[in-house]
Amino acid sequence: MNFIDLRSDTVTEPTKTMRDAMYNAKVGDDVYGDDPTVNELENFAAKLVGKESALFVPSGTFGNQLSLFTHCKRGDEVILGEDSHILMHEVGAPAIIAGVQLRALKTNKGILNPIDIKNTIRGEDIHFPDTGLICVENAYSNGKVIPLSNMKDIYNLAKNNNLPVHLDGARLFNAASYLKVPAKEITKYCDSVMFCLSKGLCAPVGSILAGNKDFIKKARKKRKIMGGGLRQAGILAAAGLIALQDMPKHLEDDHNKALLLGKKLCEIPGINVKLDDIDINMVFFKINNTNYDMNSLSKHLYDRGIKINGPENGFMRFVTHYWITIEHIDYITACIKEALG
Ligand SMILES: Cc1ncc(COP(=O)(O)O)c(C=O)c1O
Repeated sequence: MNFIDLRSDTVTEPTKTMRDAMYNAKVGDDVYGDDPTVNELENFAAKLVGKESALFVPSGTFGNQLSLFTHCKRGDEVILGEDSHILMHEVGAPAIIAGVQLRALKTNKGILNPIDIKNTIRGEDIHFPDTGLICVENAYSNGKVIPLSNMKDIYNLAKNNNLPVHLDGARLFNAASYLKVPAKEITKYCDSVMFCLSKGLCAPVGSILAGNKDFIKKARKKRKIMGGGLRQAGILAAAGLIALQDMPKHLEDDHNKALLLGKKLCEIPGINVKLDDIDINMVFFKINNTNYDMNSLSKHLYDRGIKINGPENGFMRFVTHYWITIEHIDYITACIKEALG
């Protein structure tokens, strides 16, 4: 059965053009710097986000953690949102890889208050760790896009305090599409950025970490420590290039499909959709009846060819992407109506 998969945009399989490019990719040993396709991808990616240099890494988590590992020394404190992906969904890696301590701040749907950050930056005291890094995220994993003005305020504050800013831009191009700006208008407010090729952009594997030359030189060595020195990675980079060149233009459709799905779910009695929070391709909703067995919904949909994740903090998340069609949306809502009816 060909499932309709709403669990994430990470489920996107590569397009035919990507598969052809992968088959035909020129490759070499990338640890020696010999892979022309990886080199092309890294140069293209760096320019796209207005940075001097870029590095191909296996995943978003890898890129974020490599960034912490490169910016910070052991024992440093990293300031970030308490609901950020780096804190919530990266398996506690900052303690294991970079050996840093996380200082979590409350966010307003992903928006960090610069005053809170200012009050959290450590002064000089024999008892204190050093503040090593501020991490921001855009688009946020709650599906919201953070305004550029907030990113600018945080970046200026960081510069006044001699601190670097890392952007978790797993869905950077979704944010750029929503804000209707080129990606580099967002990344000018960070020193390093990680963005994923393998989410809504459909590449099978890979993310990029970008920053200045010195940072990426250090990160390249630390990537080797982390076991991320790949060999004929051009096979993957070939799909990554298409992800960056051809796929961002489709993201607006994904966002429109999410809004349509959200509106249709709103019409079903007993469902509470966070309609105002649909900035990108994510729809969050709750079933009002707290006794309703969510596992039975998952099973009902699975039996009808639809895959979903279970709830997190009481909310379901449906994610639209390249392989979800308008017809799927009608079918999904009909199946849910049937389940709740
Ligand atoms: C905001 C954010 N950052 C980082 C990641 C990690 O990416 P990966 O799954 O490639 O490790 C994700 C994954 O969904 C994400 O949503």
